[in-house]
Amino acid sequence: MEVRRIGIIMNGVTGRMGTNQHLKRSILAIIAQGGIRVSDQLVLMPDPILTGRNAAKLQALAHETGVEKWTTDLDGTLADSDYEIFFDASGTAYRVPFIEKAIAAGKAIYSEKPTAMTSQEAVRLATLAEQAGVKNGVVQDKLWLPGLRKFLMLKDQGFFGDILSVRGEFGYWVFTGEHLDQPAQRPSWNYRKVEGGGMIVDMLCHWRYVIDNLFGAVQSVSCLGATHIPQRIDESGQAYACDTDDSCYATFALENDVVAHFNCSWCTRVRRDDLLTMHVDGSKGSAVVGLRKCWVQPQAMTPKPVWNPDIDNPIDFFANWQEVPDFGPYDNAFKIQWELFLRHIILDEPFRWTLREGAKGVQLAELGLESWAQRRWIDIPALG
Ligand SMILES: NC(=O)c1ccc[n+]([C@@H]2O[C@H](COP(=O)([O-])OP(=O)(O)OC[C@H]3O[C@@H](n4cnc5c(N)ncnc54)[C@H](O)[C@@H]3O)[C@@H](O)[C@H]2O)c1
Repeated sequence: MEVRRIGIIMNGVTGRMGTNQHLKRSILAIIAQGGIRVSDQLVLMPDPILTGRNAAKLQALAHETGVEKWTTDLDGTLADSDYEIFFDASGTAYRVPFIEKAIAAGKAIYSEKPTAMTSQEAVRLATLAEQAGVKNGVVQDKLWLPGLRKFLMLKDQGFFGDILSVRGEFGYWVFTGEHLDQPAQRPSWNYRKVEGGGMIVDMLCHWRYVIDNLFGAVQSVSCLGATHIPQRIDESGQAYACDTDDSCYATFALENDVVAHFNCSWCTRVRRDDLLTMHVDGSKGSAVVGLRKCWVQPQAMTPKPVWNPDIDNPIDFFANWQEVPDFGPYDNAFKIQWELFLRHIILDEPFRWTLREGAKGVQLAELGLESWAQRRWIDIPALG
Protein backbone atom coordinates (compact mmCIF):
# COMPACT_ATOMS: atom_id res chain seq x y z
CA MET A 1 0.00 0.00 0.00
CA GLU A 2 1.47 3.36 -1.05
CA VAL A 3 0.74 6.32 1.23
CA ARG A 4 0.95 9.47 -0.87
CA ARG A 5 1.74 12.48 1.35
CA ILE A 6 0.12 15.80 0.34
CA GLY A 7 1.76 18.90 1.82
CA ILE A 8 -0.88 21.57 2.57
CA ILE A 9 -0.13 25.13 3.69
CA MET A 10 -3.09 26.18 5.84
CA ASN A 11 -3.11 29.98 6.11
CA GLY A 12 -5.26 31.97 8.53
CA VAL A 13 -6.64 28.87 10.23
CA THR A 14 -6.52 30.23 13.78
CA GLY A 15 -9.91 31.83 12.97
CA ARG A 16 -13.35 30.36 13.46
CA MET A 17 -13.80 28.60 10.12
CA GLY A 18 -10.17 27.66 9.65
CA THR A 19 -9.83 25.99 13.04
CA ASN A 20 -13.18 24.24 13.31
CA GLN A 21 -14.30 23.33 9.82
CA HIS A 22 -11.07 23.09 7.86
CA LEU A 23 -8.38 22.00 10.31
CA LYS A 24 -10.25 19.94 12.92
CA ARG A 25 -13.28 18.61 11.08
CA SER A 26 -11.67 18.18 7.65
CA ILE A 27 -7.88 17.75 7.48
CA LEU A 28 -7.35 16.28 10.96
CA ALA A 29 -10.47 14.13 10.57
CA ILE A 30 -9.07 12.77 7.30
CA ILE A 31 -5.74 12.00 8.99
CA ALA A 32 -7.57 10.37 11.93
CA GLN A 33 -9.54 8.10 9.60
CA GLY A 34 -6.26 6.90 8.07
CA GLY A 35 -6.26 9.17 5.01
CA ILE A 36 -8.36 8.85 1.88
CA ARG A 37 -8.19 5.29 0.63
CA VAL A 38 -8.62 5.64 -3.12
CA SER A 39 -7.74 2.05 -4.05
CA ASP A 40 -6.25 -1.09 -2.56
CA GLN A 41 -2.86 0.29 -3.55
CA LEU A 42 -3.11 3.97 -2.64
CA VAL A 43 -3.96 6.17 0.34
CA LEU A 44 -3.83 9.99 0.20
CA MET A 45 -2.52 11.51 3.43
CA PRO A 46 -2.67 15.26 4.15
CA ASP A 47 0.35 16.80 5.88
CA PRO A 48 -0.54 20.32 7.07
CA ILE A 49 1.64 23.25 8.09
CA LEU A 50 -0.12 26.18 9.80
CA THR A 51 0.83 29.70 8.68
CA GLY A 52 -0.25 33.13 9.91
CA ARG A 53 0.92 36.36 11.49
CA ASN A 54 0.58 35.59 15.16
CA ALA A 55 3.15 33.09 16.48
CA ALA A 56 1.46 32.70 19.86
CA LYS A 57 -1.92 31.84 18.30
CA LEU A 58 -0.32 29.43 15.82
CA GLN A 59 1.67 27.71 18.54
CA ALA A 60 -1.40 27.37 20.76
CA LEU A 61 -3.46 25.89 17.92
CA ALA A 62 -0.65 23.51 16.94
CA HIS A 63 -0.33 22.43 20.55
CA GLU A 64 -4.09 21.97 20.96
CA THR A 65 -4.49 19.93 17.78
CA GLY A 66 -1.19 18.06 17.73
CA VAL A 67 -0.17 19.54 14.36
CA GLU A 68 3.64 19.51 14.39
CA LYS A 69 4.45 22.26 11.91
CA TRP A 70 3.62 25.95 12.06
CA THR A 71 5.39 29.14 11.01
CA THR A 72 4.94 32.88 10.47
CA ASP A 73 7.28 32.65 7.45
CA LEU A 74 4.74 32.20 4.67
CA ASP A 75 7.17 33.20 1.91
CA GLY A 76 9.67 30.57 3.01
CA THR A 77 6.94 27.93 3.12
CA LEU A 78 5.66 28.88 -0.32
CA ALA A 79 9.21 28.37 -1.63
CA ASP A 80 9.27 24.85 -0.17
CA SER A 81 8.42 22.22 -2.80
CA ASP A 82 7.30 19.85 -0.03
CA TYR A 83 3.97 21.68 -0.03
CA GLU A 84 1.82 21.48 -3.13
CA ILE A 85 -1.44 23.08 -1.92
CA PHE A 86 -2.05 26.55 -0.47
CA PHE A 87 -5.31 26.93 1.46
CA ASP A 88 -6.58 30.28 2.72
CA ALA A 89 -9.17 30.94 5.43
CA SER A 90 -7.83 34.35 6.46
CA GLY A 91 -10.10 37.39 6.53
CA THR A 92 -11.74 38.22 3.22
CA ALA A 93 -9.97 41.58 2.94
CA TYR A 94 -6.50 39.97 3.06
CA ARG A 95 -7.03 37.08 0.69
CA VAL A 96 -6.07 38.30 -2.79
CA PRO A 97 -2.36 39.01 -2.15
CA PHE A 98 -1.98 35.64 -0.41
CA ILE A 99 -3.49 33.75 -3.33
CA GLU A 100 -1.51 35.75 -5.88
CA LYS A 101 1.73 34.83 -4.12
CA ALA A 102 0.77 31.18 -3.89
CA ILE A 103 -0.11 31.04 -7.59
CA ALA A 104 3.26 32.63 -8.41
CA ALA A 105 4.89 29.91 -6.31
CA GLY A 106 3.13 27.26 -8.43
CA LYS A 107 0.90 25.94 -5.63
CA ALA A 108 -2.56 24.50 -6.19
CA ILE A 109 -5.08 26.89 -4.59
CA TYR A 110 -8.02 26.15 -2.31
CA SER A 111 -9.82 29.11 -0.79
CA GLU A 112 -12.62 30.12 1.50
CA LYS A 113 -15.26 32.37 0.00
CA PRO A 114 -15.51 35.20 -0.95
CA THR A 115 -12.28 34.90 -2.92
CA ALA A 116 -12.03 38.70 -3.29
CA MET A 117 -13.84 41.92 -2.45
CA THR A 118 -14.74 42.70 -6.10
CA SER A 119 -15.70 40.45 -8.99
CA GLN A 120 -12.96 42.04 -11.09
CA GLU A 121 -10.38 40.86 -8.54
CA ALA A 122 -12.03 37.45 -8.22
CA VAL A 123 -11.97 36.95 -12.01
CA ARG A 124 -8.37 38.18 -12.14
CA LEU A 125 -7.36 35.54 -9.57
CA ALA A 126 -9.16 32.81 -11.54
CA THR A 127 -7.42 33.91 -14.73
CA LEU A 128 -4.02 34.04 -13.01
CA ALA A 129 -4.48 30.49 -11.72
CA GLU A 130 -5.62 29.22 -15.11
CA GLN A 131 -2.71 30.90 -16.91
CA ALA A 132 -0.25 29.48 -14.39
CA GLY A 133 -1.83 26.06 -14.92
CA VAL A 134 -2.41 25.50 -11.18
CA LYS A 135 -5.42 23.51 -10.02
CA ASN A 136 -7.82 25.55 -7.92
CA GLY A 137 -10.99 25.40 -5.89
CA VAL A 138 -13.33 27.44 -3.72
CA VAL A 139 -15.25 26.29 -0.66
CA GLN A 140 -18.92 25.74 -1.58
CA ASP A 141 -19.70 23.65 1.47
CA LYS A 142 -23.50 24.00 1.55
CA LEU A 143 -23.78 21.72 -1.50
CA TRP A 144 -22.81 18.70 0.62
CA LEU A 145 -25.16 19.34 3.54
CA PRO A 146 -27.55 16.41 4.12
CA GLY A 147 -30.67 18.61 3.79
CA LEU A 148 -29.61 19.91 0.39
CA ARG A 149 -28.62 16.44 -0.80
CA LYS A 150 -32.08 15.18 0.18
CA PHE A 151 -33.60 18.04 -1.82
CA LEU A 152 -31.55 17.07 -4.91
CA MET A 153 -32.71 13.47 -4.56
CA LEU A 154 -36.36 14.58 -4.44
CA LYS A 155 -35.85 16.82 -7.45
CA ASP A 156 -34.17 14.02 -9.43
CA GLN A 157 -37.13 11.78 -8.60
CA GLY A 158 -39.58 14.37 -9.98
CA PHE A 159 -41.23 14.94 -6.58
CA PHE A 160 -41.89 18.66 -7.13
CA GLY A 161 -43.38 18.61 -10.65
CA ASP A 162 -42.47 22.13 -11.77
CA ILE A 163 -40.62 24.11 -9.12
CA LEU A 164 -42.40 27.44 -8.71
CA SER A 165 -40.65 29.34 -5.96
CA VAL A 166 -38.08 29.13 -3.16
CA ARG A 167 -38.15 31.12 0.08
CA GLY A 168 -34.97 31.03 2.11
CA GLU A 169 -34.81 32.17 5.72
CA PHE A 170 -31.31 32.47 7.06
CA GLY A 171 -29.85 33.85 10.26
CA TYR A 172 -30.07 34.12 14.01
CA TRP A 173 -29.46 36.62 16.78
CA VAL A 174 -25.80 37.69 16.98
CA PHE A 175 -25.25 39.27 20.37
CA THR A 176 -23.92 42.81 20.36
CA GLY A 177 -21.49 42.08 23.18
CA GLU A 178 -22.85 44.87 25.40
CA HIS A 179 -24.05 42.48 28.09
CA LEU A 180 -21.33 40.67 30.04
CA ASP A 181 -22.89 37.23 29.96
CA GLN A 182 -23.97 37.45 26.32
CA PRO A 183 -20.72 37.87 24.34
CA ALA A 184 -20.87 38.25 20.55
CA GLN A 185 -20.56 34.91 18.76
CA ARG A 186 -19.23 36.31 15.48
CA PRO A 187 -16.06 38.39 14.86
CA SER A 188 -16.37 42.20 14.79
CA TRP A 189 -14.94 42.44 11.26
CA ASN A 190 -18.26 40.99 10.07
CA TYR A 191 -19.79 44.42 10.75
CA ARG A 192 -16.97 46.54 9.26
CA LYS A 193 -17.00 47.27 5.55
CA VAL A 194 -13.29 47.88 5.08
CA GLU A 195 -12.49 44.46 6.56
CA GLY A 196 -14.79 42.64 4.16
CA GLY A 197 -17.81 42.47 6.49
CA GLY A 198 -21.50 42.69 5.61
CA MET A 199 -24.32 40.21 5.17
CA ILE A 200 -24.62 40.73 1.41
CA VAL A 201 -20.91 40.05 0.79
CA ASP A 202 -21.01 37.08 3.15
CA MET A 203 -24.16 35.30 2.09
CA LEU A 204 -24.89 36.13 -1.56
CA CYS A 205 -21.69 34.18 -2.44
CA HIS A 206 -23.35 31.13 -0.93
CA TRP A 207 -26.76 31.76 -2.47
CA ARG A 208 -25.18 32.00 -5.94
CA TYR A 209 -23.88 28.43 -5.97
CA VAL A 210 -26.83 27.07 -3.97
CA ILE A 211 -29.38 28.57 -6.39
CA ASP A 212 -27.40 27.81 -9.57
CA ASN A 213 -26.86 24.18 -8.54
CA LEU A 214 -30.26 23.41 -6.99
CA PHE A 215 -32.91 25.60 -8.53
CA GLY A 216 -31.68 27.13 -11.84
CA ALA A 217 -29.25 29.80 -13.05
CA VAL A 218 -29.74 33.23 -11.44
CA GLN A 219 -30.57 35.89 -14.03
CA SER A 220 -31.28 39.02 -12.02
CA VAL A 221 -31.29 40.34 -8.48
CA SER A 222 -33.15 42.90 -6.39
CA CYS A 223 -31.62 43.41 -2.97
CA LEU A 224 -32.27 45.62 0.03
CA GLY A 225 -29.67 45.75 2.75
CA ALA A 226 -30.07 47.16 6.25
CA THR A 227 -27.93 47.92 9.28
CA HIS A 228 -30.48 47.26 11.97
CA ILE A 229 -28.01 47.49 14.86
CA PRO A 230 -25.66 50.46 14.45
CA GLN A 231 -23.24 49.80 17.31
CA ARG A 232 -21.59 46.68 18.74
CA ILE A 233 -18.75 45.82 21.11
CA ASP A 234 -15.52 44.39 19.64
CA GLU A 235 -13.13 41.70 20.90
CA SER A 236 -11.24 44.20 23.06
CA GLY A 237 -14.42 45.49 24.73
CA GLN A 238 -14.57 48.73 22.73
CA ALA A 239 -17.79 50.03 21.18
CA TYR A 240 -17.59 50.42 17.41
CA ALA A 241 -19.91 51.70 14.70
CA CYS A 242 -21.30 49.05 12.34
CA ASP A 243 -20.88 50.59 8.90
CA THR A 244 -22.13 47.71 6.79
CA ASP A 245 -25.32 45.66 6.42
CA ASP A 246 -26.22 43.14 9.12
CA SER A 247 -29.29 41.97 7.18
CA CYS A 248 -30.51 41.75 3.62
CA TYR A 249 -33.71 40.94 1.80
CA ALA A 250 -32.91 39.65 -1.69
CA THR A 251 -35.08 38.41 -4.56
CA PHE A 252 -33.63 36.46 -7.47
CA ALA A 253 -35.25 35.75 -10.84
CA LEU A 254 -34.02 32.45 -12.32
CA GLU A 255 -33.72 31.30 -15.93
CA ASN A 256 -36.64 28.85 -15.59
CA ASP A 257 -39.09 31.46 -14.17
CA VAL A 258 -38.51 30.20 -10.64
CA VAL A 259 -38.58 33.03 -8.09
CA ALA A 260 -36.17 32.73 -5.17
CA HIS A 261 -36.27 35.08 -2.19
CA PHE A 262 -33.81 34.96 0.72
CA ASN A 263 -34.11 36.88 3.99
CA CYS A 264 -30.76 36.96 5.80
CA SER A 265 -30.33 38.50 9.23
CA TRP A 266 -28.00 38.61 12.23
CA CYS A 267 -30.80 40.41 14.08
CA THR A 268 -33.56 37.83 14.16
CA ARG A 269 -34.68 35.36 16.81
CA VAL A 270 -35.21 31.90 15.39
CA ARG A 271 -38.66 30.32 15.31
CA ARG A 272 -38.30 27.89 12.40
CA ASP A 273 -36.91 24.43 11.81
CA ASP A 274 -33.25 25.39 11.34
CA LEU A 275 -30.81 28.31 10.99
CA LEU A 276 -31.29 28.01 7.25
CA THR A 277 -34.55 26.81 5.80
CA MET A 278 -35.56 26.89 2.15
CA HIS A 279 -39.26 26.44 1.50
CA VAL A 280 -39.61 25.05 -2.02
CA ASP A 281 -43.05 25.01 -3.63
CA GLY A 282 -43.66 22.85 -6.69
CA SER A 283 -46.76 22.05 -8.73
CA LYS A 284 -46.88 18.51 -7.28
CA GLY A 285 -45.28 18.90 -3.88
CA SER A 286 -43.41 21.16 -1.49
CA ALA A 287 -40.38 20.74 0.74
CA VAL A 288 -38.78 22.57 3.62
CA VAL A 289 -35.03 22.08 3.29
CA GLY A 290 -32.90 22.57 6.41
CA LEU A 291 -29.18 22.07 6.93
CA ARG A 292 -29.54 18.39 7.81
CA LYS A 293 -33.23 17.57 7.53
CA CYS A 294 -35.84 17.91 4.83
CA TRP A 295 -39.62 17.73 5.20
CA VAL A 296 -42.07 17.13 2.36
CA GLN A 297 -45.76 17.56 1.63
CA PRO A 298 -46.99 15.97 -1.62
CA GLN A 299 -50.11 17.13 -3.46
CA ALA A 300 -52.23 14.33 -1.98
CA MET A 301 -51.41 15.43 1.58
CA THR A 302 -52.04 19.12 0.99
CA PRO A 303 -54.77 20.46 3.31
CA LYS A 304 -57.42 22.95 2.14
CA PRO A 305 -57.34 26.00 4.38
CA VAL A 306 -60.21 28.47 4.59
CA TRP A 307 -59.53 32.02 5.75
CA ASN A 308 -61.32 32.77 9.03
CA PRO A 309 -59.36 34.78 11.59
CA ASP A 310 -62.28 34.73 14.03
CA ILE A 311 -61.46 31.18 15.13
CA ASP A 312 -58.28 29.24 15.82
CA ASN A 313 -57.37 27.49 12.60
CA PRO A 314 -58.64 23.88 12.76
CA ILE A 315 -55.73 22.61 10.66
CA ASP A 316 -52.42 21.73 12.27
CA PHE A 317 -50.23 22.92 9.43
CA PHE A 318 -47.19 21.01 10.68
CA ALA A 319 -49.04 17.69 10.83
CA ASN A 320 -49.11 16.94 7.11
CA TRP A 321 -45.36 17.09 6.55
CA GLN A 322 -43.09 14.07 6.57
CA GLU A 323 -39.39 13.97 7.21
CA VAL A 324 -37.21 12.46 4.51
CA PRO A 325 -35.17 9.71 6.22
CA ASP A 326 -31.38 9.70 6.32
CA PHE A 327 -29.78 7.44 3.75
CA GLY A 328 -26.63 6.38 5.55
CA PRO A 329 -24.23 8.56 7.53
CA TYR A 330 -23.51 12.06 6.22
CA ASP A 331 -19.95 13.26 6.60
CA ASN A 332 -19.02 16.88 7.36
CA ALA A 333 -19.76 18.98 4.26
CA PHE A 334 -16.38 20.78 4.30
CA LYS A 335 -14.56 17.45 4.66
CA ILE A 336 -16.40 15.94 1.70
CA GLN A 337 -15.33 18.86 -0.50
CA TRP A 338 -11.73 18.64 0.80
CA GLU A 339 -11.62 14.94 -0.11
CA LEU A 340 -12.88 15.72 -3.62
CA PHE A 341 -10.25 18.45 -3.94
CA LEU A 342 -7.40 16.18 -2.81
CA ARG A 343 -8.53 13.48 -5.26
CA HIS A 344 -8.60 16.17 -7.98
CA ILE A 345 -5.03 17.17 -7.14
CA ILE A 346 -3.55 13.67 -7.08
CA LEU A 347 -5.83 11.60 -9.31
CA ASP A 348 -6.93 14.37 -11.65
CA GLU A 349 -10.60 13.63 -10.98
CA PRO A 350 -12.98 16.42 -12.08
CA PHE A 351 -13.58 19.32 -9.66
CA ARG A 352 -15.90 22.03 -10.93
CA TRP A 353 -15.96 24.32 -7.88
CA THR A 354 -13.12 26.50 -9.14
CA LEU A 355 -11.94 30.07 -8.53
CA ARG A 356 -13.90 31.02 -11.65
CA GLU A 357 -17.10 29.51 -10.20
CA GLY A 358 -16.36 31.25 -6.89
CA ALA A 359 -16.06 34.55 -8.75
CA LYS A 360 -19.74 34.22 -9.71
CA GLY A 361 -20.61 34.41 -6.01
CA VAL A 362 -18.54 37.57 -5.58
CA GLN A 363 -20.32 38.98 -8.64
CA LEU A 364 -23.77 38.30 -7.20
CA ALA A 365 -22.81 39.99 -3.92
CA GLU A 366 -21.45 42.99 -5.80
CA LEU A 367 -24.62 43.31 -7.90
CA GLY A 368 -26.73 42.88 -4.75
CA LEU A 369 -24.94 45.88 -3.22
CA GLU A 370 -25.42 47.81 -6.46
CA SER A 371 -29.13 46.97 -6.52
CA TRP A 372 -29.48 48.22 -2.95
CA ALA A 373 -27.58 51.46 -3.68
CA GLN A 374 -29.55 52.15 -6.87
CA ARG A 375 -32.89 50.81 -5.58
CA ARG A 376 -33.48 48.70 -8.71
CA TRP A 377 -33.38 45.22 -10.31
CA ILE A 378 -30.05 44.30 -11.90
CA ASP A 379 -29.47 41.69 -14.61
CA ILE A 380 -26.46 39.47 -14.14
CA PRO A 381 -24.05 39.47 -17.09
CA ALA A 382 -21.86 36.49 -17.99
CA LEU A 383 -18.53 36.78 -16.18
CA GLY A 384 -15.66 37.78 -18.49
N1 LIG B 1 -17.90 28.68 4.07
C1 LIG B 1 -18.56 29.25 5.07
O1 LIG B 1 -19.66 28.85 5.42
C2 LIG B 1 -17.96 30.41 5.81
C3 LIG B 1 -18.52 30.80 7.03
C4 LIG B 1 -17.94 31.86 7.73
C5 LIG B 1 -16.83 32.51 7.20
N2 LIG B 1 -16.33 32.13 6.00
C6 LIG B 1 -15.17 32.83 5.41
O2 LIG B 1 -13.99 32.38 6.07
C7 LIG B 1 -13.08 33.45 6.23
C8 LIG B 1 -12.69 33.55 7.70
O3 LIG B 1 -13.85 33.84 8.46
P1 LIG B 1 -13.92 33.56 10.04
O4 LIG B 1 -15.32 33.72 10.39
O5 LIG B 1 -13.19 32.32 10.35
O6 LIG B 1 -13.12 34.82 10.58
P2 LIG B 1 -12.10 34.93 11.80
O7 LIG B 1 -11.93 36.38 12.07
O8 LIG B 1 -12.52 34.04 12.90
O9 LIG B 1 -10.76 34.33 11.19
C9 LIG B 1 -9.94 35.03 10.30
C10 LIG B 1 -8.54 34.47 10.40
O10 LIG B 1 -7.67 35.16 9.52
C11 LIG B 1 -6.52 35.54 10.22
N3 LIG B 1 -5.95 36.69 9.56
C12 LIG B 1 -6.46 37.93 9.46
N4 LIG B 1 -5.60 38.70 8.79
C13 LIG B 1 -4.55 37.93 8.46
C14 LIG B 1 -3.32 38.17 7.80
N5 LIG B 1 -3.03 39.39 7.30
N6 LIG B 1 -2.46 37.14 7.67
C15 LIG B 1 -2.76 35.92 8.13
N7 LIG B 1 -3.90 35.64 8.79
C16 LIG B 1 -4.76 36.64 8.96
C17 LIG B 1 -7.01 35.83 11.62
O11 LIG B 1 -5.96 35.83 12.56
C18 LIG B 1 -7.92 34.64 11.80
O12 LIG B 1 -7.16 33.48 12.08
C19 LIG B 1 -13.78 34.69 5.68
O13 LIG B 1 -13.32 34.96 4.38
C20 LIG B 1 -15.24 34.31 5.65
O14 LIG B 1 -15.94 34.96 4.62
C21 LIG B 1 -16.86 31.10 5.32
